[in-house]
Amino acid sequence: MRVYDVIDAKKNRRALTEEEIGFFVRCVADGAATDSQIAAFCMAVLLNGMTDEECYLLTDAMAKSGRCAPRPAASGIFADKHSTGGVSDSTTLILVPVLAALGIKCAKYSGRGLAHTGGTLDKLESFAGVRVDLSPEEFEKQVERVGAAVSGQTASTVPADKRMYAVRDVTATVDSVPLIASSVMSKKLASFADLILLDVKYGDGAFMHSPAQAEKLARLMVSIGERAGRKMLAAVTCMDAPLGDHIGCNAEVNEVLEILRGEKKNDLSRLSVFHAAKILQAAEGIGEEEAASRAANAIDSGAAIRKFGEIIAAQGGNAGDVYKTLPMSDTVHTLRAKEDGYVRISALALGRACAALGGGRAKEGDAIDHGAGILLKVRQGARVKKGAVLAEAYCSKSGEEGFALAESAFAFSPKKIKDRPLVYAFIGGKE
Ligand code: URA
Repeated sequence: MRVYDVIDAKKNRRALTEEEIGFFVRCVADGAATDSQIAAFCMAVLLNGMTDEECYLLTDAMAKSGRCAPRPAASGIFADKHSTGGVSDSTTLILVPVLAALGIKCAKYSGRGLAHTGGTLDKLESFAGVRVDLSPEEFEKQVERVGAAVSGQTASTVPADKRMYAVRDVTATVDSVPLIASSVMSKKLASFADLILLDVKYGDGAFMHSPAQAEKLARLMVSIGERAGRKMLAAVTCMDAPLGDHIGCNAEVNEVLEILRGEKKNDLSRLSVFHAAKILQAAEGIGEEEAASRAANAIDSGAAIRKFGEIIAAQGGNAGDVYKTLPMSDTVHTLRAKEDGYVRISALALGRACAALGGGRAKEGDAIDHGAGILLKVRQGARVKKGAVLAEAYCSKSGEEGFALAESAFAFSPKKIKDRPLVYAFIGGKE
């Protein structure tokens, strides 16, 4: 068999066999397939699709292309949560300490920022001294001892996804349902979580633009996880406007800390508590109301912020930093309304603006300015007068491009704006 034949079959819309998929993934992982062959394969899948069976086989082969972490012997449920990528979406940093404070162990493998979307690992590195490269042994021990760990997967985990993702990122082949499903789920199957909640984003700032497309992706990932014996939940949630009010590493961490200290409530806090309650409900078999009240109480009682301090300390930082405010970069530009009207805010444009200000990456490996970012002063749908302050944009280098992109994120409508639902659909548990 040749890699060429597998690409040719997919180009001609033939469903690939287990043998063909296994062969292709092995060639990706061991370097026998070239970047151009991987690109051609991904484009053929993007254009011609895959059956659910092919997608499961691709996921399984990718998961097994590297080290799969064995499930620790400890009793109880290990939970994980994954978002398909959004703007001002720091739900993980809220949900993990909330769940750990409630006794649900969180084994959370996260990633770095991609394109216009923020990355949990970059945000955690806003805390001085924090490590996000825990070895599998350190990761497991920390989950056991503290109740939660958040780390990147090691180079030996799902190497086939690492190569394929890097190629997709530069060949316009990210936004394919089977490729996203296999990429996300291969990393989940290589880890040992028993219960996985997926937050599949739809909208302007997400890889999936329509809610129906996002729901299709969510259902496919749930079926892959269930076939592999995991308990699966998935929420399809809106990413038209930024979820929280802050964009950028230090900015988002500051908002997370305010929420965990009980000082702020907004869509970001509500969605995080919603996800935590859904996981708690599925893990403990309790009712919806009891789960929601216990999740909210973990914040109100101060248990969640204390647990976050423990997680930060366990990963090399200072527990006391969760009671501080991280600094923003020195140069600040105030954005003002150009006309009267109801404000519409583009998550995509603000994500790109943050990256241009230095708060995101143009390519893998680029350094991030943790203090760069945007603080929104209005929410989508607010009525404003010309000249009203909309946001502050921070950077430590020349910010003209980022400021202009941030300006372009705001539009003004004479009519009230009808927001699309924050939670469009929920799959799994009690639907
Ligand atoms: N996140 C991933 O891990 N993979 C994708 O393909 C898209 C989002």
